Amino acid sequence: MKEHPITGGIAAELSGIDLKQPISDDLAEALRDSLARNLVLVIRDQFLDVDQHRRLAEVFGPPAINPYAPGKGDHPEMTSVIKEASERTGVFGGGWHSDLTFLEKPPGGSVLCAIQIPPYGGDTLYASQQAAWDALPEPLKQLLDGRDAIHVGKPYGVKWAPPVEEQSMKGSTKRNDPEADKERFHPAVLTHPVTGRKGLYINETYTMRLDGLSEADSAPILRQIFQHSTLPEFCCRLRWSPGMITIWDNYSTQHYAINDYHGHRREMRRTTFEGDRPIREWA
Ligand code: SIN
Repeated sequence: MKEHPITGGIAAELSGIDLKQPISDDLAEALRDSLARNLVLVIRDQFLDVDQHRRLAEVFGPPAINPYAPGKGDHPEMTSVIKEASERTGVFGGGWHSDLTFLEKPPGGSVLCAIQIPPYGGDTLYASQQAAWDALPEPLKQLLDGRDAIHVGKPYGVKWAPPVEEQSMKGSTKRNDPEADKERFHPAVLTHPVTGRKGLYINETYTMRLDGLSEADSAPILRQIFQHSTLPEFCCRLRWSPGMITIWDNYSTQHYAINDYHGHRREMRRTTFEGDRPIREWA
């Protein structure tokens, strides 16, 4: 396996591996190590079936079911992320976020496989929250370190639900769930269990406020953090090709699916894998 960094701060492309074949212990270890250092992995031309996709996710942790977008049939852990050619507004993941941070135990990461790619557009952006932490001004570091942030599942709840016409994957996602409106506390800063690097764990889709501060007092601080945490220097932009896979560390990155391919269909297959509940120090 060869590793080719994509930017100076996040993501590497891997070559020389065929993930359709059984994954040896050595390869599994190399994949985990590469993900811990690069946070996003890209592997082209894999064309995995559902079983191979699941087996790859298992390298990183037990596959998890997305309670708001479960897969159909025998594979509830496999979410089909589809935008039809006829749809315009609302795309799954179309805003900066880490996945499902309003759950008690958000996923540790995801494996996303490209099934059908539009002729142009439909790229995915990723942002390293470790690079964002490193570059955060010292007063903000002091404000956040050791503090919890509060998350709610705005797109899936009742109180903050977007208008129906802006919702993605209508019909295959669970909406209006009062459980999603409940406040969930997670540390605002996490330490990676393997590398020991600190990273921000705050995102504009789900983070409502900082512990100890009202929503109004949190708002200007959070706005500054949201802007900072996705600066271009911390990001990579991935152009998809059929059969390509990305794997990401959901505790140390944010991502954003770009909705710029109206009139064309895009289909991805995604499974998340479990991580530990985010805690301040894992090591
Ligand atoms: C997501 O998992 O948020 C969607 C990513 C994508 O479709 O590019």
